[in-house]
Amino acid sequence: MSKIIIAISIAIMTIPNVLAQAQTTPKVLVYTATAGYRHDSIPTAIQILGDNAGKYGVEFTFSEDKSLFTNETLSTYDGVMFVSNSDEVLDQSGQDALQSFFQSGGVYTGVHAASACLFNDENYQQAMGAFFDYHPPIQTATFERINNTHPATANVPDRWTFQEEVYHFRSNPRDNGAIVIMTVDESSYVNNGTSTGNYPSMGDPHPIAWYIDSPNSAQPLNSGIEKAGRSFYTSLGHLNSTWQDETFIDHVMSGLKWALDGASTKAYGVGLVGNGNGSGSNTSSSGTGNSTNSASAGGSSTAGSSTAPSASVSAASGAASASSGSSSGGTAVSVSGKIAALGAGLVGSVALGVGLVL
Ligand SMILES: *[C@@H]1O[C@H](CO)[C@@H](O)[C@H](O)[C@H]1NC(C)=O
Ligand SMILES: *[C@@H]1O[C@H](CO)[C@@H](O)[C@H](O)[C@H]1NC(C)=O
Ligand SMILES: *[C@@H]1O[C@H](CO)[C@@H](O)[C@H](O)[C@H]1NC(C)=O
Ligand SMILES: *[C@@H]1O[C@H](CO)[C@@H](O)[C@H](O)[C@H]1NC(C)=O
Ligand SMILES: *[C@@H]1O[C@H](CO)[C@@H](O)[C@H](O)[C@H]1NC(C)=O
Ligand SMILES: *[C@@H]1O[C@H](CO)[C@@H](O)[C@H](O)[C@H]1NC(C)=O
Ligand SMILES: *[C@@H]1O[C@H](CO)[C@@H](O)[C@H](O)[C@H]1NC(C)=O
Repeated sequence: MSKIIIAISIAIMTIPNVLAQAQTTPKVLVYTATAGYRHDSIPTAIQILGDNAGKYGVEFTFSEDKSLFTNETLSTYDGVMFVSNSDEVLDQSGQDALQSFFQSGGVYTGVHAASACLFNDENYQQAMGAFFDYHPPIQTATFERINNTHPATANVPDRWTFQEEVYHFRSNPRDNGAIVIMTVDESSYVNNGTSTGNYPSMGDPHPIAWYIDSPNSAQPLNSGIEKAGRSFYTSLGHLNSTWQDETFIDHVMSGLKWALDGASTKAYGVGLVGNGNGSGSNTSSSGTGNSTNSASAGGSSTAGSSTAPSASVSAASGAASASSGSSSGGTAVSVSGKIAALGAGLVGSVALGVGLVL
């Protein structure tokens, strides 16, 4: 059985000077391959991410095809997002290409079991932060926001209580340059799980979500690159009900957007990888603090303030949730590429974004 949902969004662009910022919609490869445990929430994750692509001004390609991890293919993406993976989901050549992507300004985002794969890939660990060790049985726990200005936590409660697997990690992500933005109240759940090894401390307070501004894995940078792509990771996201929670999806999408808005890729007019013609115009590569870059955060469809709703231009969401394609090797590729390009081409008049969900 298949159904077709057509979503049409129309954005009327009235501010010509957004053209000057050369924004194209960042493209993100969402990788949900598993080689061990498989979360049954993966199809829900794909569906909900696709539904939210337009709202946050990104374009997703969903896939479990490790053959996409080549220099050539990754170079068309601004970011990769790993969601609920397990074990060895890339071979050596794929890991090498991913490392090259990071060194070229490519952005990383990981959700939940994204920390439970590629355990032997040091570069992946440095991009992601810290590997999963274990979790006690799923139960109600209270997560604590310790940074209320970072976009990924700006809209979550100070104390956020729901059913979740509380991840414990094999190392301290802070040792990889991570800034922790969410922790867990360790008195709010029963930790009767056991560590899988004799690992160093994950640090205190207990890390749950974090960001890395300049991941070690991206060092050294490839020639022509001025800054590393940012990284964002959250360990939350086990259950369907969590993915269906608007607070959670804002946490994930805003974390991804924050990483992209570091402006290290072609969608932002810089870098060696991404969706756009970046090379040669890296004058706004400072990434933070300058008004030219803040315009790139315009992905939120509300775009309340009058300036530059730039990133909402091509709001095609293209969720291709694999109805039966969720078996290993199944590939679901976004259908929105051409449409997004069309939308971008229509800046200045009307942008029409159409997403098909099969
Ligand atoms: C989660 O949703 C998927 C479909 O999106 C479904 O197959 C799965 O059974 C759900 N899991 C639970 C525990 O309900
Ligand atoms: C991928 O790109 C890197 C440079 O970023 C290069 O060193 C490497 O040889 C390339 N790999 C392949 C298989 O072409
Ligand atoms: C919170 O995150 C922002 C980045 O959005 C960062 O500048 C700030 O230093 C962080 N605050 C703390 C206390 O980590
Ligand atoms: C941990 O506690 C839960 C709930 O009390 C229980 O179901 C589970 O068997 C316990 N696990 C271990 C390893 O003790
Ligand atoms: C970016 O600009 C600097 C000078 O500001 C230049 O040296 C560098 O080569 C440029 N990089 C790219 C990728 O164009
Ligand atoms: C970007 O590159 C494509 C081909 O790669 C070209 O068709 C297009 O005209 C270029 N756009 C700009 C603004 O240079
Ligand atoms: C911001 O951009 C303006 C020009 O667009 C430049 O004069 C200024 O130095 C920049 N500020 C920073 C902090 O990069």
